[in-house]
Amino acid sequence: MARKRVAILISGRGSNMSALIEAARAREYPAEIALVLSNRPTAKGLEIAKSAGIATAVVDHTAYKTREEFDAEIEKQLAAANIEIICLAGFMRVLTAQFVKNWEGYLLNIHPSLLPAFKGIDTHVRALDAGVKIHGCTVHFVVPEIDSGPIIMQAAVPVLEGDDEEELATRVLAAEHRIYPAALKLLAEGKLAIEGERVVVAGVNGEADETLTSPRI
Ligand code: GRF
Repeated sequence: MARKRVAILISGRGSNMSALIEAARAREYPAEIALVLSNRPTAKGLEIAKSAGIATAVVDHTAYKTREEFDAEIEKQLAAANIEIICLAGFMRVLTAQFVKNWEGYLLNIHPSLLPAFKGIDTHVRALDAGVKIHGCTVHFVVPEIDSGPIIMQAAVPVLEGDDEEELATRVLAAEHRIYPAALKLLAEGKLAIEGERVVVAGVNGEADETLTSPRI
């Protein structure tokens, strides 16, 4: 089966992007990273993508008067690269509802919390302040409402006594790097179905998951 052509949209350092690029190096991985697009010309991730030999594009949001014009330029770049799936990876712009609708079922995001807890920014500080004992990350389909949408995969990490924001963020980030490639793999293999608010994964059994990752990876 042909590998699905994926674009990764970034704004910054691109560590999740790197994890996806790394996973897609494997011959049996069902997706290839065909484009990395940043809204910030100075995003560190752009350099990493270039050194990995991946096509890059910059669509600088400050050059567009409206979100519609900005999104239209992104659409143009995606079409030129024959993109089939988009992964948002630290992309700090809100996409228009129309854009999201155009890509329904093929647009993923990773968020550094166990959604629906801690939508928005500063998730690690808020988790520490709330005193939760378990924190984590979520890969979900994007819908117009921010940090919502059917959940594909989550990984949980413990919040340890004395953790600061950086320590917790580092623990969560390692989990992000595990589940984003795994979630993209399921989508690219056509194993995900959206039923109402839920994602049903084909071929996943109901066994207990001692690794605290759901579905099992
Ligand atoms: C990650 O924590 C991701 O969950 C969030 O933004 C951060 C991006 O980091 N959406 P990176 O650019 O992938 O390193």
